[in-house]
Amino acid sequence: MAIPEDVINEIKYRNDIETVISQYVTLKRRGKNLVGLCPFHGEKTASFTVYPETASFYCFGCGVGGDVFTFTGLIENLDYIESIKLLAERSGVTLPDSGYDDSMQRLKNRIYDINRETARFFHEYLLSDAGVWAREYLLGRGLKPATIKKFGLGASPDSWDALINHLKSKGYTIDEMVAANVVGKSQRGTYYDRFRKRVMFPIINIRGNVVGFSGRAMPGEDKQGGKYVNTSDTPVYKKSANLFGMNLAKNHCEERMILVEGNMDVISLNQAGFENTVAPLGTAFTEEQANILARYTKEVVLTMDADAAGQKAIKRAAEILEKTGLKTRVIVIPDGKDPDEFIKKNGPDRFRGLIDGAVSDIEYKLLMAAKDIDLLSDDGKLKYLSAAAEIIASQSDIMTRDIYIGRLSEKYGVSRTALETKVKDLRKGFVRSQEKKEINDIIRPKFTKNDVNPEKRISVKGTNAEETLIAVLLQHPDFYKTAQEKLPPEKMITSLNKRIYSIIIDTLEKGEGLDISTFGQQLLPAELGLLVSLQNSERAAKNPKIVLNDCIEVILEENLRLEMSRNSDVSVEEWALRLQNIIDKKQKGN
Ligand code: CTP
Ligand code: MN
Repeated sequence: MAIPEDVINEIKYRNDIETVISQYVTLKRRGKNLVGLCPFHGEKTASFTVYPETASFYCFGCGVGGDVFTFTGLIENLDYIESIKLLAERSGVTLPDSGYDDSMQRLKNRIYDINRETARFFHEYLLSDAGVWAREYLLGRGLKPATIKKFGLGASPDSWDALINHLKSKGYTIDEMVAANVVGKSQRGTYYDRFRKRVMFPIINIRGNVVGFSGRAMPGEDKQGGKYVNTSDTPVYKKSANLFGMNLAKNHCEERMILVEGNMDVISLNQAGFENTVAPLGTAFTEEQANILARYTKEVVLTMDADAAGQKAIKRAAEILEKTGLKTRVIVIPDGKDPDEFIKKNGPDRFRGLIDGAVSDIEYKLLMAAKDIDLLSDDGKLKYLSAAAEIIASQSDIMTRDIYIGRLSEKYGVSRTALETKVKDLRKGFVRSQEKKEINDIIRPKFTKNDVNPEKRISVKGTNAEETLIAVLLQHPDFYKTAQEKLPPEKMITSLNKRIYSIIIDTLEKGEGLDISTFGQQLLPAELGLLVSLQNSERAAKNPKIVLNDCIEVILEENLRLEMSRNSDVSVEEWALRLQNIIDKKQKGN
């Protein structure tokens, strides 16, 4: 059941969009709107816009948009209904107890419950007699019982249905177990426990809910399913937007966070007193994860392995982190060990020493550039210096560039002016390509309207007309009757616009007001973004009636054209006749 419009309006009224967004984004006034740096993608020029008049926002860079609930949902990682509830709570509006859980919300709650129950089941199994093999393994790796408890570690029995039977006895259905991804369904249609004979790491989100699991095979037993089996994305879990250890790290990370590769690294660093440690969850580090870190800390220390794969991962992660404006430093762990092994062998103090001595991103790059070069030969020196000049030129801070130009000219005995000139030249090219990239990012945003509406491919002309028609109706709802008469929703070419158009007509027919929140519960943030941009677009501004009729004509024509191409039996003459018909009708309408 949806939350009634008047309740939503009350909550919206008490949670002014400008005030809410200002808690997360520094906004500057521009005309009647406000702009700032988008918190949902990395950018250096402000393309995130808040429209107080319509209580909506839109990012020209990445295309997300919506109302105050969409914003809160994106930034707090909640769905639309959850954000309504959160803002209701914050502003003292009481929602009646019952009824507001739609079926998706109900399923999510069941999955959270299953995950918690499963974590408990695995933990108890670990502590039972039967779990001795897993206990021995974890203690053998140097974990203390208190650490095992703190992370809620567990073990899954060597069985195909132990968890299924346990969850059944607690009243969960097999479909719910599959939705939580703790149970799998085979091609033959039988069900099985996904985690068997593994040490289990529950994944806990920032709000303290168990959202998934990572299961490690015993050494030598990873033939079946690989070393790790991880929860796939579910309605409550998105791998690319979570970090292992974040639930603990979030309280210890104001100054810096340590980013490691694996769960075991997070756990052993935690045990050694580094609670500000997190790891990606079995995938490469993502922009979404970087944006989360940027909200919690000022600096990230990277500690990937020193092998080739690790170096590539460091480079990629540093690039992603740079975009968020976070300070980044790199630890190179001696002997190519991972942090877990290093700390076990050398103790926390030496690790702290590594963190304190962690080199800045630029130093790390300079170090790596020197790696396979013979610096004693003139040839090698020259090669290194041009690589180094490029690295220095990529630094946006002029002081940083100056310091390293000084250091290198001294160290390698080249004239400062020569190096300076070289860096300056490279810098010009670099700035140009950077600017181009930023402009490109704005012109061709990540979710372009084409991505939002994948069916645009079917007919670009028709889709543009649909969008303009929607823009007209958002700005001049009075025209909806005219539109409805000439263009029933089924005639819309793309299904997204058909959905939007139907909502517009239904809402206005009921005599309700039309704003972005009308669509909030039914559209995704990128789709809402399209609507906000249409609501503010100029294309409907002049003479809306003519624009509307033109759009309807184009859509009907395109309908016909598509029908023709699908249906080659109809003759060209017949086609021309139908087209003439549309044009006649239109002229009558004007
Ligand atoms: N990983 C994965 N699937 C694999 C291998 C690795 O999902 N088949 C992910 C896991 O999240 C793991 C991380 O990549 O934690 C790092 O992998 P690795 O270094 O192999 O594991 P460790 O965490 O170091 O585990 P251990 O120390 O127990 O070997
Ligand atoms: Mn390891």
